[in-house]
Amino acid sequence: MAYKHFETIEKHAPLLAILTAVMVSIGGLAEITPLFMEAHSVRAPLGVKPYDPLRLAGRDIYVREGCYLCHSQMIRALRAETERYGHYSIAEESVYDRPFQWGSKRTGPDLARVGGKYSDQWHQLHLMAPRKVVPESNMPGYPWLAQTKLDATDIQARMRGLRKLGDPYSDADIASAPDALKGKTELDALVAYLQGLGIKNEPMAANGQPATDGGEP
Ligand code: HEC
Repeated sequence: MAYKHFETIEKHAPLLAILTAVMVSIGGLAEITPLFMEAHSVRAPLGVKPYDPLRLAGRDIYVREGCYLCHSQMIRALRAETERYGHYSIAEESVYDRPFQWGSKRTGPDLARVGGKYSDQWHQLHLMAPRKVVPESNMPGYPWLAQTKLDATDIQARMRGLRKLGDPYSDADIASAPDALKGKTELDALVAYLQGLGIKNEPMAANGQPATDGGEP
């Protein structure tokens, strides 16, 4: 009997197409629905802190200047990537990134764990004139960042907004934010942001130790 049903379905292309679509949709739902249900359980792992004011300001400059158009911040779980960049990225590392900077466009290298790879001076020179440090670079220079003082007028409003979304800033953190930006240039902030990328975020293994497997999935 069942065999007869299959024959009917297989001989009617439109029916076969519809039923195939139904089955694929069920499979899709089974994969996607749990992600929605579990979204709230993505929490900051140990050691991942919200951005301090200087890094937060630097992050805004990173977004404003469109650095993401050439740089991703998402290391894929592939050997070629983990050997070059370090442990593959996990969702929890980006809980304080709004909007997240994962991306897939890589004219330049991935930056998810670039923090600590170079000195502050290297970054300053590189951002002002990339070809002075990497002769073959096609990255544009951003010399104006060094001449522009940080605008601290909206940093407290930014932090209060992020607190509403769940970032654990205290009143004291917010009160002292303008001081942290005093006298700093946009370049200082951007370098502070870059130097923090991936630094405190090494994912922990199940036993609570830093994952040291080189990130093999
Ligand atoms: C047009 C594409 C492009 C844009 C836009 C761009 N970069 Fe780059 N970036 C590159 C390329 C290519 C390299 C590799 C050569 C080099 O080191 O200069 C690079 C390298 C880097 C490196 C060194 C990474 C490493 O691991 O060696 C950092 C840090 C960096 N870029 C930061 C930035 C920041 C911050 C911005 C925005 C202000 C930015 N880039 C904008 C293309 C770009």
